[in-house]
Amino acid sequence: MGSVRAMASTRLLCLFNNRVADSTKTLARAGWSLSCRRNVSSSPSRLQSCMPGWVIDQYGTNGVLTYTEDIPVPTVNSPSDVMIKVYAASLNPLDIAMRGGYGATLLKLKRHPMSVLGSDYGSEFPLILGRDVSGVVVDCGSEVTHVAPGDEFPVETRQSGRICDSNRVSHKPKSVTHAEAASIPYVANTALSALVNAGVLITGGSGGVGTFSIQLLKAWGAHVTVTCSQNAEGLVRGLGADEVVDYTAGDAPEQLEMMEKFDVVLDNVGGETEQLALGLLKPWSGAKYVTLVTPLLLNTDSMGLLDGICQAGSSLQSKAIQNIISGGVFYRWGFYAPDGPALDDVSRLVDAGKILPVVEAQFPFTQVPQAFQKLEQGHARGKTVVRVTEEDYQQAEELVQESCSDTAEFEQERREPAEQH
Ligand SMILES: NC(=O)c1ccc[n+]([C@@H]2O[C@H](COP(=O)([O-])OP(=O)(O)OC[C@H]3O[C@@H](n4cnc5c(N)ncnc54)[C@H](OP(=O)(O)O)[C@@H]3O)[C@@H](O)[C@H]2O)c1
Repeated sequence: MGSVRAMASTRLLCLFNNRVADSTKTLARAGWSLSCRRNVSSSPSRLQSCMPGWVIDQYGTNGVLTYTEDIPVPTVNSPSDVMIKVYAASLNPLDIAMRGGYGATLLKLKRHPMSVLGSDYGSEFPLILGRDVSGVVVDCGSEVTHVAPGDEFPVETRQSGRICDSNRVSHKPKSVTHAEAASIPYVANTALSALVNAGVLITGGSGGVGTFSIQLLKAWGAHVTVTCSQNAEGLVRGLGADEVVDYTAGDAPEQLEMMEKFDVVLDNVGGETEQLALGLLKPWSGAKYVTLVTPLLLNTDSMGLLDGICQAGSSLQSKAIQNIISGGVFYRWGFYAPDGPALDDVSRLVDAGKILPVVEAQFPFTQVPQAFQKLEQGHARGKTVVRVTEEDYQQAEELVQESCSDTAEFEQERREPAEQH
C-alpha cells in the first residue's frame, strides 16, 4: 500500500492557497518546524500543519489501525525530496505482515540508527504502514530537475508519507486512473528486479506480483507458465499466460514435471513449492530460481539484527552452493528495489496497452481497515487499492494553477519594491 501517511491528506492544498503559503514553503525548506509555520500564518485554518491518516501505535491484528487527524504534514527537507498529493494507494501483503511487527528490527534501525545500541533509543511508533501511491507533485527540493509541481506520478515510498526521494518517482501512465496507477509501482519494481527474460514458470501467478509479472514477461516475449487456483485460470490466461497449472489439482507436480524444463522460476509461494520448482529448471544451462519468499526479516525479528542477518546469509549461501553444484542452477532471493526510471518503462507499456493494472478491489479512504481485512483473507486476484480522494484530475489542475499564480503574484510583488529603488 502507498504509505497510509501518504494516503492521508488532501488538505495540504491549503499551503498553496495564498501568499503566506509561499513563505511557509521557503521556511520549511530551510528546516523550520511546522510550529514556525504557524507563526508566519495569519490564518491557521488555511495553513494545515496536520493531516489525517491511519497509524498503528503497537503491532497486532487489524484492531491496531487507528484513524487520526493529527499527523504532522511532512515537509521537503532534502534537496532531492518531492512532495506528493496522494490520490490513491495500494496495499501489499508486506503491509499486513508489518502491521504485526514483521521487519520491526530493521525498520526501527532505519528510523533510529542509535537503536542498535538498545531498546531505549527511540520508538518506531506511531507507525504509518504502506508504500505504493499515485498522485500529483506539489513541491520539490532544490536539486530536483526532472520532476515539477503538477506532474502525475505513481511512486513507492517508505519514507515520510508524501515526501519521497525523486529517484523513486516515475510518470503516471496517461491511460489509467490514479487508483489503477497506485497498483503498479511495488509489484512492478519487485518483478523487474527479480526477473530476467526467459521461458518462465511463475508460481502464485494470480496475486499482485504474479499478475504483473505475467504481463511484463509476455511484453518481453517470454513463454509463461503459471500455477494458480483453478478459479484464477481465466484471469491469468486473459493476461497472457501460455500454460496454466491448477496447483490444487492432485497431479499438479506431475503436470509440471511433464512440461519442458524452465529457464527461470519466479516463486511467489515459497515453502514446499521451492523444492518442486527447483527440480523443474533446466540443469547446467544457467537456469535461475528466484524466490520472493525469504526468511531475512523473520530472522532479524526473532534473532536480532546481527544473528538474523548471519543466519539468513548462511542459509542463502548454502542453498546457492548446493544448487549450483548439484544442477548448475542459480538460486536467488528476489527483493523489491525502488527504481523510478524503470517504472517509466512500465508506464510506456501500460500506455501501449501491454500491461493492464489488475485492481481486484477498491476502498474509500474511510475503509482502510476493511482494505486490510480484504487483503488478509488471501486469495488475491491482483491488487487492492485505497482511494484517498474521490476528486480527480480537475482538482489537481486547479491546485497547480493556484500554486503557479500565487507564486507569480508573490514574485511580482517582491520585484516591485526593488524596481522602485
Ligand atoms: N522479497 C520481496 O521484496 C517481496 C516483494 C513483494 C512480494 N513479496 C512476497 O511475494 C509473495 C507474493 O506477493 P503478492 O503481492 O503477489 O501476494 P498476493 O497478492 O497475496 O498473491 C498471492 C497469490 O498466490 C496464490 N497462491 C497461494 N498459494 C498458492 C500455491 N501454493 N500455488 C500457487 N498459487 C498460490 C493466491 O491465490 P489462492 O490462494 O486463491 O490460490 C494469491 O493469488 C508474498 O509472499 C509476498 O510477501 C516479496
